[in-house]
Amino acid sequence: MAQRQRQIRLALSVYGVGGPGQHGLWKDPRVPKNASIDIDWYIAQARKAEAAKLDALFIVDSQFINATYPPHYLNRLEPLTLLSAVAVHTRHLGLIGTLTTTYNSPFNLARRFASLDHISKGRAGWNVVTSFDVGVAKNFGLEQHLDYPTRYGRALEFVKVVQGLWDSYEDDAFPADVERDVFLDPTRLHALEHKGQYFSVAGPLNLSRSPQGQPVIFQSGQSDDGRSLAAQIAEGIYSPPAPLEEKQAYYADIKERTRRVGRNPDHVVILMGARPVVADTDERAFQRARDEYEADNQFERKLAAFGRSFGAHDFSRHDLDAPFPDVGELAERGGRTNAQKIISHARENNLTLRETVLAFSKFQPSPFTGAPRTVASTIARWFEARAFDGLNLGFRTTEDLDTFTGEVLPLLRAEGLFRSDYESDTLRGNLGLPIPENRHTLERQALADTRATGAA
Ligand SMILES: Cc1cc2nc3c(=O)[nH]c(=O)nc-3n(C[C@H](O)[C@H](O)[C@H](O)COP(=O)(O)O)c2cc1C
Repeated sequence: MAQRQRQIRLALSVYGVGGPGQHGLWKDPRVPKNASIDIDWYIAQARKAEAAKLDALFIVDSQFINATYPPHYLNRLEPLTLLSAVAVHTRHLGLIGTLTTTYNSPFNLARRFASLDHISKGRAGWNVVTSFDVGVAKNFGLEQHLDYPTRYGRALEFVKVVQGLWDSYEDDAFPADVERDVFLDPTRLHALEHKGQYFSVAGPLNLSRSPQGQPVIFQSGQSDDGRSLAAQIAEGIYSPPAPLEEKQAYYADIKERTRRVGRNPDHVVILMGARPVVADTDERAFQRARDEYEADNQFERKLAAFGRSFGAHDFSRHDLDAPFPDVGELAERGGRTNAQKIISHARENNLTLRETVLAFSKFQPSPFTGAPRTVASTIARWFEARAFDGLNLGFRTTEDLDTFTGEVLPLLRAEGLFRSDYESDTLRGNLGLPIPENRHTLERQALADTRATGAA
């Protein structure tokens, strides 16, 4: 069947021994106990993703834990180190790593991502976050996490500086001409000389551009500040799952914000987080989803996980049967968007702490639960309804990934909604994103055009 124009984009997020809501996953005999720190496990997942023609492997991250965190978070590899190893065992799969703008410096980060982009020959992506966990601050010499306006202001300037550094060399900077004895053409090397509100960076970066020009910029962050950052810099977004109408409104909002800042909305690919549960019948899939939920359904766990939006607050200190406590200020600098949702729901419905925790951790099967045909048609329907451009997929086990790629993807392919082969060797190429022109090359060309017009 002829391919339709708009194609579903699919990334794979991996959570080794168990991410949020999967505290008991490590006990599953199919999951190696060291999955989260075994590079061979990641390489195996990546190869499966590549064989299924997925767009990218997506690695989330944080630099704070306490003992109540999900098993994968307790003991995991640093994203860029991990992705560099995966890069040399794959050829087409995009490699997206989450790094925070709050606890890094732009020069160092620009160099590390540019290195991954070269190592992978144009498959690197950077998921820009400002850090969810307020506790990271104390690992970086700060008493407090930065507030929202500072974090997001810093993030915007940070990304601009990084992109400026990635343009240090024009594409023809290295003639490497032995006869003329010219390795570098110095007119094609540009210092940045950036002096802004948060950073002073001279440059240039000591690394040239890769086949995709620059790594692809992703963003995760749902607040108004987060959306505004996305509109300005994101080429891809990782957004959390929500009901269809909510996702449609979010999609429309992001595309409109992007248009308003003069960018092409098609050049921002919105991925929604999704954990499909697939079985041979709808009934069995729902039963499995329920069983998996019940296996992890311990109130103490839920209470601890609930604290994360409030700066890893220990809610076990409060009376569970008293009205929801006054803890709004704990979320002011961390997961405020989620925390505000929780607080308003608790207040509006006069809930106790226990009732609030239960309300936000009740059984809510993924909309992509069912037999392969049900899951494929739901994905297609949400995609056509512009709830997303693609999914950031997560599975409990490798077997679940195999079921999805083996039984759901062929149905999407038959509808012309998902590729049968890669279009390109680069992440940009596969996501349908343009290669950003080097700004100095553009300036020089514009100047030459002006001169030519003046002379004519
Ligand atoms: C879907 C999604 C994924 C995120 N992943 C990460 C992550 O891996 N690491 C992190 O530190 N923050 C992560 N964040 C948090 C954002 O960076 C941001 O700091 C936090 O959500 C607060 O901003 P917000 O209110 O704009 O969402 C994620 C946020 C969302 C919505």
